[in-house]
Amino acid sequence: MKTRRTLARALAAATLASAAAAPALAQQPLPPEQMKLAQELMQKQMATMTPELVERARALSPEIRQFLMKVALRHERRSDTLTLRQVMHDILADYQAAGAAIAVDNGAAAADAARRIAGHRLPRGGMLPYLPLDKVTNEGLSVLPAMEAAVEGGARQLADAADRGDMVAAAQHYGTITSGCVACHNHFRGQPGASAYEPRLKR
Ligand code: HEC
Repeated sequence: MKTRRTLARALAAATLASAAAAPALAQQPLPPEQMKLAQELMQKQMATMTPELVERARALSPEIRQFLMKVALRHERRSDTLTLRQVMHDILADYQAAGAAIAVDNGAAAADAARRIAGHRLPRGGMLPYLPLDKVTNEGLSVLPAMEAAVEGGARQLADAADRGDMVAAAQHYGTITSGCVACHNHFRGQPGASAYEPRLKR
């Protein structure tokens, strides 16, 4: 356990460092008409949250709220029913498809799968409802832009490299994506693979 934590922490640090190209949290403000749509999307997400979570979400800094708004705007496929776990399983399927396509030098299929990762669906209520409450803070969420840069930025770069037929570069970007999956899971989840339901297992 200790080793796993240490490794993942190092990975998270490396991901954060390599995400220097990541969009800084404090970005230019949204143009007014986009701001209006973003606020509507946030309201819609909040309507699905428990009062406890709404209170936490409202207390987040303007920078983090703006980042979450941009995520909501950018992902045009938004589900009213799917949970984060279901979306994650979709992402996993595309991640495996991209890896297989790279391995057999199929640039077109690798690029398609990577673009599906970058444009993944948003689950019901956005991401916040699926995180431990104590991580829904400015500090807890401050890692999100770096995770996003690793997974979605890496996926877009993978797609561009695969389109150019540069499968060596595509394989390297695949590694960047992987480090983003690992770092985010380590940061936001205590027990990997744990179910939200109480399993009938002896302690
Ligand atoms: C922004 C943070 C974040 C990133 C990046 C991320 N995940 Fe997840 N993932 C989560 C969280 C949080 C859960 C737990 C959700 C739950 O239990 O409701 C999860 C759960 C999963 C699950 C469900 C099975 C399990 O172990 O709980 C799969 C599969 C999964 N992620 C795949 C991936 C893959 C593949 C990638 C990288 C391409 C990835 N995730 C990137 C946050 C992330």
